[in-house]
Amino acid sequence: MRHILINLFLIIILSVLVYMGLDAVGLLPVGASAQAETIDWLFNIELIAIAFLFSLIVVPTAYSLVVFRRKKGEEGEGEHFSGNTKLEIIWTAIPLLAVVVLAYMGAWSLGDALRVDPQAMVVEVTAFQWAWKFDYPDYGITTNELYLPVDKQVELKMESPDVIHSFWVPEFRIKQDVVPGQVNILRLTPIELGAYTVRCSELCGISHSYMNAPVVVVTEEDFQAWVEQKKAEIPDTVGPDANRGELIVEQNGCFACHSVDGSIIVGPSWSGLYGSDVELADGTVVTADDAFLKESIMDPNAKIVAGYPANAMPSYSLSDEEIADIIEFIKTLQ
Ligand code: CUA
Repeated sequence: MRHILINLFLIIILSVLVYMGLDAVGLLPVGASAQAETIDWLFNIELIAIAFLFSLIVVPTAYSLVVFRRKKGEEGEGEHFSGNTKLEIIWTAIPLLAVVVLAYMGAWSLGDALRVDPQAMVVEVTAFQWAWKFDYPDYGITTNELYLPVDKQVELKMESPDVIHSFWVPEFRIKQDVVPGQVNILRLTPIELGAYTVRCSELCGISHSYMNAPVVVVTEEDFQAWVEQKKAEIPDTVGPDANRGELIVEQNGCFACHSVDGSIIVGPSWSGLYGSDVELADGTVVTADDAFLKESIMDPNAKIVAGYPANAMPSYSLSDEEIADIIEFIKTLQ
């Protein structure tokens, strides 16, 4: 009995110390969404359980090694036991109860994190190799940064035209794969103002690790101001327009692979590209004119530039006007 009491005492002390240690390390970044609250609550309970189970194993093991070791002058073997019905009932019933309670808490938290607000703002998310595009159908704007008003649920309708990506903002805790051929929904309610980053958490090709986009949570007022500013940025000129071209390039994530300053990221730089002579993988030399640029956007594998891999770029289906805008933009990069 004395040994059991000492063990219980040590288990409680060690559990508290381990939990305090894990808590002090700060395993999670700030919880910035309403969904994070329930998930962090569950995570905290897991930490307590981990601290307790760790102590439950380590304390009796260490205690037995020290207290029940063979002392000087002791001979022979220890006493043998076999079977203890009472103990077996206890160590079956307690884990069973624990599993049932954990399952209930998990289901409750999942329900809480998936709760639907009919007033939610819709944002259409396109994840593609290797960038993010955000369409706000209510406002008619498209961007590469996800601006969200605080304390308002947003419904992200996510699609991918190429491979599987995954939307993950650690501060929001929740995560959703984006799968080609279907629309996946993720609902979240930002509750902390601030700047975060959405990362792609599904290995999706050569620039997967650079597939980040800013996520900014602002007040409702600042959000409306941002919407107005974005609307004003769209040039309403007729004919090819370099500014509009730059916007289209930004929205389609071209800068993830093509630089405008001569540096090589994944594909050739656009700096000084227009009108220059380009050597192809098969040794021929072509001029980078309108026709070549258009073909390279619509059908990137038609002509592979020497030194670059084939099949690295997905083909884009843009309108003739949009392509003219992009070429107009590339022309300015001399
Ligand atoms: Cu997209 Cu990884």
